[in-house]
Amino acid sequence: MVKAIRVHELGGPEVLKWEDVELGEPKEGEIRVKNKAIGLNFIDVYFRKGVYKTPTLPYIPGMEATGVVTAVGPGLTDRQVGDLVAYAGDPMGSYAEEQILPANKVVPVPPSIDPIVAASIILKGMTAQFLLRRCFKVEPGHTILVHAAAGGVGSLLSQWANALGAIVIGTVSTKEKAVQAKDDGCHHVIIYKEEDFVARVNEITSGNGVDVVYDAVGKDTFQVCHKGPNKNLHCDSHLHKEYIYKSAAFTLASPLNTTSTASITTTFEVPSTEIDCGWLQLGVVALNSDRSVEVEVVKTQNPVASSLQVHGDVGSDKANGTGDEDGEAGVGAAGSLACLKPRGYMVNFGQSSGTPDPLPLSALSAKSLFLTRPSLMQYTATQDELLATAGEVFANVESGILRVRVNHTYPLSQAAQAHADLESRKITGSVVLIP
Ligand SMILES: NC(=O)c1ccc[n+]([C@@H]2O[C@H](COP(=O)([O-])OP(=O)(O)OC[C@H]3O[C@@H](n4cnc5c(N)ncnc54)[C@H](OP(=O)(O)O)[C@@H]3O)[C@@H](O)[C@H]2O)c1
Repeated sequence: MVKAIRVHELGGPEVLKWEDVELGEPKEGEIRVKNKAIGLNFIDVYFRKGVYKTPTLPYIPGMEATGVVTAVGPGLTDRQVGDLVAYAGDPMGSYAEEQILPANKVVPVPPSIDPIVAASIILKGMTAQFLLRRCFKVEPGHTILVHAAAGGVGSLLSQWANALGAIVIGTVSTKEKAVQAKDDGCHHVIIYKEEDFVARVNEITSGNGVDVVYDAVGKDTFQVCHKGPNKNLHCDSHLHKEYIYKSAAFTLASPLNTTSTASITTTFEVPSTEIDCGWLQLGVVALNSDRSVEVEVVKTQNPVASSLQVHGDVGSDKANGTGDEDGEAGVGAAGSLACLKPRGYMVNFGQSSGTPDPLPLSALSAKSLFLTRPSLMQYTATQDELLATAGEVFANVESGILRVRVNHTYPLSQAAQAHADLESRKITGSVVLIP
């Protein structure tokens, strides 16, 4: 029997239970590892909540750890009892005092690297490696945008990209996190809870945009469209054919009680009749010479809603050439997409604020953008890739390019508290659980 955290039902941090579990002995191709330190990752939250599906219930969470080999399966010659190894990714189950692992999924930890540091960086560091070196290859002179730049992955992305010679723009939620992001090599830091990050990126890049956006915040950053005095007004910029003629979807995060302004960086033909917005029905009041449109609320489920002004790039898609050949409207990019230069790379690699809304392909056409949703598993699928990726991460730790921030440690038995703190955005850098 060993102690482990187990989840019997999906839910909040309270579903993480500290229990005795049977472990067994390693079979052919397997090793038994006594964990010294376990990395906490946002993916652990997704599985706990059911955003990502777990194969079974109950399950032991966790995808990152460092430990000492305590037994090897029959016939295995390339691992020895006493080896210090690290692992990241499949199979899940690192929130345990000991675990059984396939021997080909672990990497050796260099003697110069502390096991706690290794546990905090193996998954996050390999993620930074594939994002910066392979998914999009960052080179000197590139300008990049890193969201949540003070987080576990964000901190490493910022440091590494700076060392590669890129101009790094980072977003964070607080002033304290801004200090860390600056220290980690961000040349510009935007506090996206207070500032319009699209406008700031535009200003910083003199309107040119960035070469690549690394966005794992998801819903709140990917394609937002909010500007003006009422930040509660979000324009949901799904555009499709019908939208040109009759529907515009707006989502109000809280009741509208004043005149509000929303920026719609999209192109559509303004109908002369009312725009049906589902639960919010708008009528067009005026089409202004500056190509903005003013609308008023005609009907809404919210009785306090009174009026609404919409400013945007208004016109027929034909007139400004952003439509595609089937007549669909070109969707103006907003949020992260709007920060990109023409032919820029949008890398969405997570969704800590929620899953982004679906995006029509036409959203990419105006600037011929590239969009990818990569996963570390595909970039470390072979053992050669895994060893090379981990090797580069450890080499960067040894050379000082990556300064690992293990800012928070918790006893493994208190994993629930660690999850709660990660979700409430109290965390900077990496979190490690100690068995
Ligand atoms: N695709 C892959 O292979 C891969 C691999 C590893 C990690 N990831 C992703 O990378 C991201 C970072 O992972 P991490 O473990 O290093 O976590 P983290 O960055 O340490 O924590 C997430 C950060 O997201 C920001 N955030 C914005 N809105 C949030 C919200 N509503 N709730 C919670 N956080 C919010 C917070 O920073 P601010 O307070 O500054 O906004 C928070 O600190 C995650 O989305 C994860 O899934 C993907």
